[in-house]
Amino acid sequence: MIIDGKQISQSLKDAMKIEVDALAEQYGRRPCLMVIIVGNNPASRSYVRGKIKATEYCGFDGHLVELPEDVSEATLLAEIDKLNNDPLVDGILVQLPLPKHISEDKVIAAISAEKDVDGFHPENVARLWLNQHCILPCTPKGIIELLDQAGVEIAGKKAVVIGRSNIVGKPVAKLLLDRNATVTIAHSRTKDLAAVCREADILVAAVGRAKMVTAEYVKPGAAVIDVGINRTEDGKLVGDVDYEAVLPVAGAITPVPGGVGPMTITMLMRNTIECFLNRENKKA
Ligand code: GUN
Repeated sequence: MIIDGKQISQSLKDAMKIEVDALAEQYGRRPCLMVIIVGNNPASRSYVRGKIKATEYCGFDGHLVELPEDVSEATLLAEIDKLNNDPLVDGILVQLPLPKHISEDKVIAAISAEKDVDGFHPENVARLWLNQHCILPCTPKGIIELLDQAGVEIAGKKAVVIGRSNIVGKPVAKLLLDRNATVTIAHSRTKDLAAVCREADILVAAVGRAKMVTAEYVKPGAAVIDVGINRTEDGKLVGDVDYEAVLPVAGAITPVPGGVGPMTITMLMRNTIECFLNRENKKA
């Protein structure tokens, strides 16, 4: 079975569009997401375009704030502060990576935790690991949603996550653990990685190396979630999984593009609605 992230994402966005109209009616305003981009990195520009398009599709307020590559850290922090203090702004996202002269840690920490729709703020990360109410990071949240929508059982299963990044590997492992999977976090230095992965009922690949996961990594019938975004020499977008080789072995698989990617953006929309509701209900 191919898990069609694009289609699942579309139906979730269609439902949110209706929900947002109802929220506008009830609260007299729409959820508002502000996206900041620094510089001209073409990949970042393309991701941000997708985020703004989804924002418009779902009927949110908000827009893109474009800052030049040489903007000072102080100016960026001042811009974030302005949005933190704007009562009509629910979500703030600063597209990463940032130019070398700006500290990403400082920028992430500067975004108000209650408007941190990426779920990257240290307070949200800590809350996730402490099982407290928090904003979940979008890609891990999207992966769980994909597994649920595809009818893949998580509880009692063995999951292997390849990759230990703060944005994907570690949080997705935590979410799978919370759903009662038994989770192994593996990585590029794991000894006999293929044998470790072959134990998995659910295999999540988030390493950033094209075609790394071959058929010998996959237990027949396993669900394979490909988080990789790699460019081949001829510019084609491919995941971490050798899709053609793994497709006949896997029980379910996410394609790249059209798998996890669209879900990340859709969960960003979900998080914006959640931030809106948290803020509105705090007022009440
Ligand atoms: N760059 C790549 N992925 C992301 C993401 O999910 N959020 C932000 N802010 N930047 C990114």
